[in-house]
Amino acid sequence: MTGLTQRRRDPGEEPLPDDPDRDPPFLDLDRLEREARGVLEPGVYDYYAGGAETETTLAEAPGSWRRWRLRPHVLRGVSEVDTATTLLGSPVDTPVGVAPWAYQAMAHPEGELATARGAAATGSMMCVSTSANHTVEEVARTVPEAPKWYQLYRLHSPEHTADLARRAGEAGYRALVLTVDLPLLGRRKRDLVHDFALPADLRMANHPTASDRPGLSANASATWTFDDIGRFAELSGLPVVVKGVLRGDDAARCVQAGASAVWVSTHGGRQVDPAVSSAYALPEVVTAVRGETAPDGSDVEVYADGGVRTGSDVLTALALGARAVFLGRPTAWGLATGGADGVARVLGGLTDELAHTMALCGLADVDEIGADLVVRA
Ligand SMILES: Cc1cc2nc3c(=O)[nH]c(=O)nc-3n(C[C@H](O)[C@H](O)[C@H](O)COP(=O)(O)O)c2cc1C
Repeated sequence: MTGLTQRRRDPGEEPLPDDPDRDPPFLDLDRLEREARGVLEPGVYDYYAGGAETETTLAEAPGSWRRWRLRPHVLRGVSEVDTATTLLGSPVDTPVGVAPWAYQAMAHPEGELATARGAAATGSMMCVSTSANHTVEEVARTVPEAPKWYQLYRLHSPEHTADLARRAGEAGYRALVLTVDLPLLGRRKRDLVHDFALPADLRMANHPTASDRPGLSANASATWTFDDIGRFAELSGLPVVVKGVLRGDDAARCVQAGASAVWVSTHGGRQVDPAVSSAYALPEVVTAVRGETAPDGSDVEVYADGGVRTGSDVLTALALGARAVFLGRPTAWGLATGGADGVARVLGGLTDELAHTMALCGLADVDEIGADLVVRA
């Protein structure tokens, strides 16, 4: 016995530095996911967290960004860093945005409205899913000034799909994001194990009927083609972003068909598995659209998502030619644990990490980030 006694700590007293309950003084996404898992129904957690088939694409995504190494500059006198940029002409404070993800009311009662407030607080682009629990207009009204994009799925009813595109244009969204990697739903084994069904009272705000979920409709095999890109641009009056492209040849065809931007994505490993990672596909897509112009004459933009978890992942993606990256699951964990503030903490935390790593690399501005910043490990 040493004679040392444990002092009883008052409830509400600040936890000690080595207390496992103490929030770490940095963004800890693994911990945030564990906390979210603690508050979500097991079936809902697995719906959000899971991927398709063997989950190879899901598992490989974060590590794929870390197959590159940064080549920092020195002696450039950088004392301030600016992460602001523009996305299809809309100013944003950070190249870290919110990917469209479905059914956010399962994570938090305010669902997409809370996410929109969180994204607006950090000056981030939010892309709102077709499978939202709030209508196109409700989300738009929540943060009228903040730039937002609308993600469109092909629903069973072509009329209803066209109507959503028109409404997105009227409601002030800045782009229409066509998700093209879901002609039918990937085989997600965690959902099959749980026999996961969406809660009966979950509001399908933008689906004509509860059963008309993307990828489940009777004629799911009648998919979109490249011709639909120009059609939706015309219907909505918005620039079209094509999401879910993993090949240079497809990216070039999207641009020829009228796309203003291409979004490299594996749908978070929820569709084709094993699919090439976004980190691997991004350089090929960037090369394929280099020098191409969007219908308004500006340069075609490329975005990426999938397993982006740190500021240096963001920096690597930008060096590989992405203009912005988008986060799916980390924002779900933020929303589930802290509503709008939780989403803002995730987006703000990653932006802070990006700024810090930029400063270490001698980069004052995102425009200074070039392909020479990275090399394969
Ligand atoms: C739970 C969940 C739901 C999703 N729903 C949609 C959707 O409705 N529309 C869409 O285009 N992508 C959807 N995605 C894919 C995301 O937009 C994004 O591509 C992916 O989550 C990025 O990977 P990350 O989760 O590793 O950040 C979903 C992803 C998740 C995890």
